Amino acid sequence: MRILGIETSCDETSAAVLRGSGDAVQLESLVILSQDVHRIFGGVVPEIASRQHLTSIIPVIDQALGDAGVTLAGLDAIAVTHAPGLVGALLVGVAAAKGLSLSTGLPLVGVHHLEGHLFATSLEHPSAVPPFIALLVSGGHTMLLDVSAWGRYQLLGATRDDAAGEAFDKAAKLLGLPYPGGHHLEALARDGDPTRFRFTRPMLRRDQRLGDDDYYDLSFSGLKTAVMLAVKASPNIAADAAHIARGFQDSLTETLAEKVARAVRATGHTRVVLGGGVACNRALVSAVQQRAGSGVAVLAPSPRIATDNAAMIARAGLYHAEQGHWASLDLPATSGATIPGMRPR
Ligand code: KG4
Ligand code: ZN
Repeated sequence: MRILGIETSCDETSAAVLRGSGDAVQLESLVILSQDVHRIFGGVVPEIASRQHLTSIIPVIDQALGDAGVTLAGLDAIAVTHAPGLVGALLVGVAAAKGLSLSTGLPLVGVHHLEGHLFATSLEHPSAVPPFIALLVSGGHTMLLDVSAWGRYQLLGATRDDAAGEAFDKAAKLLGLPYPGGHHLEALARDGDPTRFRFTRPMLRRDQRLGDDDYYDLSFSGLKTAVMLAVKASPNIAADAAHIARGFQDSLTETLAEKVARAVRATGHTRVVLGGGVACNRALVSAVQQRAGSGVAVLAPSPRIATDNAAMIARAGLYHAEQGHWASLDLPATSGATIPGMRPR
């Protein structure tokens, strides 16, 4: 099967063509157009995002088809992100996908953006297939999942307040770094002394036991406040910024790594798959590897596949197409909605 993927949930207009069946797939093209305009505002402005998607979506799809050397007639299905995200932004991709489906007769698949992130790593690491523990860390979500099979997701824990990426962005802003700040903060932290600022590890206590509410859960808003207080108290922020960044990153990555290690111990899985933009963070990948142990394979995508892209939407869409999970033309664009197949705790 050859499938076109479309992604417009936030500030990337992206299209991709993927071909294959089961877990044997080949990416034939991937176009990602990032909307740099939001940097000026220090965050994504929904109305501007929608308008930019609107002007870019057709050229981006055209280029993805051209790069793959196919026309619409060479496709078998169209997959599109329909939730969650900015509704106005999602609507652009959903409307484009519906228009193409209606005019060509190609069947439509609606993909949940976070399920896309779950599939993303397998595009680069063929062994990133279930069963595995998944840590999804993006700008909007932070979740720990037991993935026993594609389509079967047990939620283990989630953040109770800020997402990991949001915490990175806010800490970066406090340190005067540009938006989105995750990779700038990581670069700054490389020169930081880990002993200068030891922030608390949120939601991490020795007496936590499996079954406790907070055993897997996360929380980053207190850490953000700790960074704010450290910045305010610093007599020389230019000299301290790197040390604060390092202290923040160590606290966040070690907390995530410990929760992942707990999930590995409880389930016996030998693979950990990281997904979402924060999975680009090398300190996170090595902290998870260190805590999980050498018998566990920790698989992280490259930055292009970790951050929002349509290849992951095509990959998740292929799975649903093979299951016959077709969408009708009344497929809604929604901001919420849980991952299909996800069991709550
Ligand atoms: O998955 P993603 O591209 O978009 C969402 O679906 O949210 O994630 C974007 C997030 C941003 O918060 C960004 O700061 C963060 O990923 N990020 C990083 C790094 N690269 C991107 N955070 C920490 N370290 C990085 N190297
Ligand atoms: Zn995302």
